[in-house]
Amino acid sequence: MTAGRATHGARHVAIIMDGNGRWAKKRHLPRAMGHQRGVEAVRNLVRAAREMGLEALTLYAFSTENWRRPEDEISALMGLLKRYIIADIDEFVANDVRLRIIGDHSALPADVVALLDDALARTAGNDGTTLVIALNYGAQDEIARAATKAAAKGPITPATIEAELDTAGLPPLDLLIRTSGEVRLSNFLLWQAAYAEMWFTDVLWPDFTPDHLRDALAAFGQRERRYGGR
Ligand code: FPP
Repeated sequence: MTAGRATHGARHVAIIMDGNGRWAKKRHLPRAMGHQRGVEAVRNLVRAAREMGLEALTLYAFSTENWRRPEDEISALMGLLKRYIIADIDEFVANDVRLRIIGDHSALPADVVALLDDALARTAGNDGTTLVIALNYGAQDEIARAATKAAAKGPITPATIEAELDTAGLPPLDLLIRTSGEVRLSNFLLWQAAYAEMWFTDVLWPDFTPDHLRDALAAFGQRERRYGGR
């Protein structure tokens, strides 16, 4: 099966991974356990994305608003991110997965920044699936930063802003998925979602499997995208 067929022509999928807390609550477990199981879902999904030949998978891991969460939850999330990168970096290198970060990751704890910078450098030459992790990311912040840079260079147009977005150079966003039954974008990829298809599911993030991604891609394949034309 060719890569294009497995993904139904989608090149770039983004996911708002929501519902870790509710998953844990339903089981009377601490929230951190929900996040921990959420990382397992991430791991399985990255492997599946690579196997199906998806060009880019963008995951919303930590928003600019998530700093408002309790300190112990923030440090649990940072710890999980670190452990995930440490555990899977050799697999990324071996399997041609390129890591990319969107958002301002320089504001994260110094040990996380150092680890990410090392992982970015080690996977920079890969050209299989790009795993894009949104960290300290907010779309309005991204657009404001891009517009500022574009304005310094010349007239502002959609194209000059787009060239300065954190996602510059990635394939256009085809499909945006949100789990856990919430139906909103929560400041994620607002610019890039202009023509993306949306797929919402009640499944909580820790329960999200590659089969759910395949379902979303199959639904994407059924849709007729007109980009404002007819
Ligand atoms: C939403 O669940 C999820 C997050 C805020 C964090 C997502 C992070 C991970 C899955 C782990 C780290 C990421 C990577 C890439 C290794 P929630 O806590 O808002 O759930 P709730 O709405 O049910 O409370």
